[in-house]
Amino acid sequence: MRSLAVLAALALAGIEPTLAQNNQSYEDYTVEANPDLFPLCLQHLNASFPDCTSSPLSRSLVCDRSADPHDRAAALVSLFTLEELVNNTGNTGLGVPRLGLPNYQVWGEALHGVGRANFVDSGDFSWATSFPMPITTMAALNRTLINQIGSIVSTQLRAFSNAGYGGVDVYSPNINTFRHPVWGRGQETPGEDAYLSAVYAFEYITALQGGVDPEHLKIIATAKHYAGYDIENWNNHSRLGNDMQVTQQELSEYYMPPFVAAARDAHVRSVMCSYNAVNGVPSCANSFFLQTLLRDTFEFAEDGYVSGDCGAVYNVWNPHGYVDDEYAASAASILAGTDIDCGTSYQFRLEDTFDDSLISRSEIERGIIRLYSNLVQAGYFDGPDAPYRDITWDDVIETDAWNIAYEAAVEGIVLLKNDDTLPLSPEIRSVAVIGPWANVTEQLQGNYFGPAPYLVSPLDAFRKSNLKVHYARGTEIDSTSEAGFKDALKAAHRADAIIFAGGIDNTIEAEAMDRQSIAWPGNQLKLIDQLSKLNKPLVVLQMGGGQIDSSSLKANKNVNSLIWGGYPGQSGGDALFDIITGKRAPAARLVTTQYPAEYADQFPAIDMNLRPNGKNPGQTYMWYTGEPVYEFGHGLFYTTFKETSGMEDAGTFDIQELLTAPHDGYDRVEQQTLVEFTVAIENTGDRVSDYTAIVYVNTEAGPAPHPNKWLVGFDRLGGIEPGDSQTLTVPVTIDSVARTDELGNRVLYPGHYELALNNERSVVISFDLEGEEAVLLSWPEDRQTVPGILESQ
Ligand SMILES: *[C@@H]1O[C@H](CO)[C@@H](O)[C@H](O)[C@H]1NC(C)=O
Ligand SMILES: *[C@@H]1O[C@H](CO)[C@@H](O)[C@H](O)[C@H]1NC(C)=O
Ligand SMILES: *[C@@H]1O[C@H](CO)[C@@H](O)[C@H](O)[C@H]1NC(C)=O
Ligand SMILES: *[C@@H]1O[C@H](CO)[C@@H](O)[C@H](O)[C@H]1NC(C)=O
Ligand SMILES: *[C@@H]1O[C@H](CO)[C@@H](O)[C@H](O)[C@H]1NC(C)=O
Ligand SMILES: *[C@@H]1O[C@H](CO)[C@@H](O)[C@H](O)[C@H]1NC(C)=O
Repeated sequence: MRSLAVLAALALAGIEPTLAQNNQSYEDYTVEANPDLFPLCLQHLNASFPDCTSSPLSRSLVCDRSADPHDRAAALVSLFTLEELVNNTGNTGLGVPRLGLPNYQVWGEALHGVGRANFVDSGDFSWATSFPMPITTMAALNRTLINQIGSIVSTQLRAFSNAGYGGVDVYSPNINTFRHPVWGRGQETPGEDAYLSAVYAFEYITALQGGVDPEHLKIIATAKHYAGYDIENWNNHSRLGNDMQVTQQELSEYYMPPFVAAARDAHVRSVMCSYNAVNGVPSCANSFFLQTLLRDTFEFAEDGYVSGDCGAVYNVWNPHGYVDDEYAASAASILAGTDIDCGTSYQFRLEDTFDDSLISRSEIERGIIRLYSNLVQAGYFDGPDAPYRDITWDDVIETDAWNIAYEAAVEGIVLLKNDDTLPLSPEIRSVAVIGPWANVTEQLQGNYFGPAPYLVSPLDAFRKSNLKVHYARGTEIDSTSEAGFKDALKAAHRADAIIFAGGIDNTIEAEAMDRQSIAWPGNQLKLIDQLSKLNKPLVVLQMGGGQIDSSSLKANKNVNSLIWGGYPGQSGGDALFDIITGKRAPAARLVTTQYPAEYADQFPAIDMNLRPNGKNPGQTYMWYTGEPVYEFGHGLFYTTFKETSGMEDAGTFDIQELLTAPHDGYDRVEQQTLVEFTVAIENTGDRVSDYTAIVYVNTEAGPAPHPNKWLVGFDRLGGIEPGDSQTLTVPVTIDSVARTDELGNRVLYPGHYELALNNERSVVISFDLEGEEAVLLSWPEDRQTVPGILESQ
C-alpha cells in the first residue's frame, strides 16, 4: 500500500488514482462471502422496554434515575459476561435474558418518515406519514420546514416504539454531499452544497433528538455516511471496496462540514462510518476519521457512538483487504472507534479476538456503554411515565392530518421553465396526462420508506378535479418500444393541454446502483418531441432525485413549461396539481446542478477532486467551468419581484478585531454575524407568492484557484401579496466567508468580497477584510499508520 504522502502527491499532480475494481454487488459480497451476516442483522425484533421494577435489574444503578447516564450504562454493562457483552455488539443486540435486559434493534430508518419499523398489516401502526425525499424538501429553502418534518417523524417513531414496533434510535439522516450527478443515493441527501447539507443536518438532527442537548433524548439520530461516500457502483467500482482519494483541503472544505455541523453544533449522538475507504483506510477502521477528526476536532458527544454501515466492518477485510481476515477487521474497527457493528462480525468474531489478546474487554465495553448511555438518556430504563412514553397512535394520526407532507411537496417543487402557460388558464377544460410518472404509486416515495396512509399520483389529482382527463402511459421509464406512442398522441389530440410526467425513478437511480448516463432514459424525449409538435400547451414534469439533461426541452419552444418535482411523497400528485393549476405558486430552487449529458463521460465519477484540472471541468457550482443546463439555485416564480437594498458597501472589517470581539451567546467568535444581508422584496406581479433567496459570496482573496462563488445563507419568505413588500434578512457569519487552505485549515483572508442575491445577482453588497489572514479551524494532520495497525497479526 502506498503511503499517504505518495497518495497526496498523486492527487495534487492530478494523476488518476487506481481504485479497487470489483464487480460484485452488495448482496454478492455480503450474502455469498458471509452467509451468516444477513439473517441476524436483518432481523426485525419485537421491541420492549427493560423492567426496572423487578430484580435483578432494579438493584443496579442503571435503574437509578438520579444517577449520571454514563454511570448508569457502565453499571449495566459491568454485569455482562464476555459472551453477553459480545452478543450486544451488533445492530441486532441480543439483550441479556439473565438480567431481564430485552434485545434491542439499533437499525431503524427515518429518512423522510418512519422507514424501518415493524409495521403491522392493517389498522393502527400499518402506516406512517411519508414526506418528500430530502432532495425535494431542501429545495424549499425553509429551515423551519426541515425541523417540523423531523419533529413529526420523531413523534411518530416514538409512537411505534411505545407500542413495541421499533426502537428509539435511527440511522438517519444521510448528509453526504451530492457531488456527482450519477450517484444513486443523491436523492436521499439535501443536495450538492456543503452549507445546505450542514443546515439540513442541524435542523433534522435537533428535531429528531428533541433539541440541542435536551435533558431527555426524543430519538437518537445518526449522521451518515462518514465520510467520502458518494458512489455506489459507478463503472463497477463497488462502494464496498472503493478507496476514494481526497485531499485534506477538499475533505475539510466540502466532504466534512455536514458532519462538523452534526457533531459540534447539533450534538448528534450517533455517527455511521461508511463502506468506502479514504486515502487507503476504510472508514470504520480509520482512527484519523473516528478519533482525530470526529472526537478531537469536531467535538462529537463524549458518549456518542459510531455504528458501522451494515456489513462495513466485514468489508474492512473483504473486499478492502486492509487486514487479513474478519477477526482482524473486527479488532481494527473496535480499536479505531467503531462501537457497534451493523452486521455480525463483532458478534461472531470478537470472542476469539479477545482470546487472542487483540483487544481487551474494556475496548469492547466502551462501545456498548456509549450505546446504552444514550438509551438511558432516551428514557429507555425509566418506565412508562418517562418523557415521550405517552405518545400513541393518536399522535401519528394527528401529525399526519397536519398535512405537512403536502406543504413540503408544494414548497419543494421547482419551476425550471415557463412561458405564460403555467398556471393553466381556466379556459383549459381537458388535459392529457401522459407518461411513466403519471399513474405512479411508491415511486412518489423514492427509497427508504414505510407504507404511506395514501399515495396520490398526478393522475389521481387530475381525476379528482373538474378537468376532463385523457390518460395514456405512452412509454416506460427506460424503454425503446414505441407501442404506446399512438395512444399517447390520441389522448393528446383530444385534450386542450398536455401534461407529460416522466424522468427517472429507483429503477434508474438507487442504492447500490449509480447511473452511467445522465440523459433522459429510454425514448421519453422522443415521445415528448412528438407531443410538442401538436402545438398545444405542453407541461413536462421531470421527476426523480438526480438531474437529467433537459436541454432539448429547454430549447424546444413548444415545450412551454418544465417542472422538477424530485420525489414528492404521499401527497405529491396533489402538490403538482395545485402548482400546475395555480392554487399554489412555486418558489423552490434547484439544490443540484443540472449538467449537460456529456459531463458524465468527461471524467471518472470516482475522481473526488472538485477543483478543475485538465479533463475534470470542476465539480459542483463552486468549481464547474462548463455551461450547466440549469444552474444550482435556479427556480422561477409565477409573479415578478423587485429586490432593492439601501446598501452597496457594508464597509471594511479588521480581521484581528473581528476575532477578538466579545461573542456573548456564541460558542465561537466566528459564528457571529459579519454582515446582515438585508433586502426589500416587493411583489410587482399579480399573484401571491412565496419568495426564496440564496446569498452567495465571491472573492479573489487568498490563494488561487478561487471558486466561482459559494453559498453563505438562504431564506424563504411567505405569501407576499401583489404590491406588498417584505424584508429579507440573511445573517452572513464570519465563518461562512472563510476559505480552506491546502492543509485543510479554515482561513479568513484579507481582500475584497461580494455578497450576491440569487444567481441573477439582483442585489450585490460588498465588503472588505483587512489585517493579517487568520486560521479559524486548524485541521489536524493524518498521523495514522497506513496500512492498518493489525497488518502483522
Ligand atoms: C471488473 O470489470 C472490469 C471491467 O469489465 C475488469 O477489467 C476487471 O478485471 C473486473 N474486476 C474483477 C475483480 O472481476
Ligand atoms: C414478534 O411478535 C409476533 C407477534 O407476537 C410474533 O409472531 C413474532 O414471531 C415475534 N418476532 C420475533 C422476532 O420475536
Ligand atoms: C449469545 O447469542 C447466541 C446466539 O447468537 C445465543 O445462542 C447465546 O445463548 C447467547 N449467549 C448469551 C449468554 O446470552
Ligand atoms: C459491470 O460488470 C457487469 C458484470 O460483470 C458487466 O456486465 C457490466 O458490463 C459492467 N459494467 C461496466 C460499466 O463496466
Ligand atoms: C394505475 O396503476 C394501478 C396500479 O399501480 C392500476 O391498478 C391502475 O389500473 C392504473 N390506472 C390506469 C388508468 O391505468
Ligand atoms: C416554512 O415552514 C414552516 C413549517 O412548515 C411553515 O410554517 C412556514 O409557513 C414555511 N415558510 C414559508 C415561507 O413558506
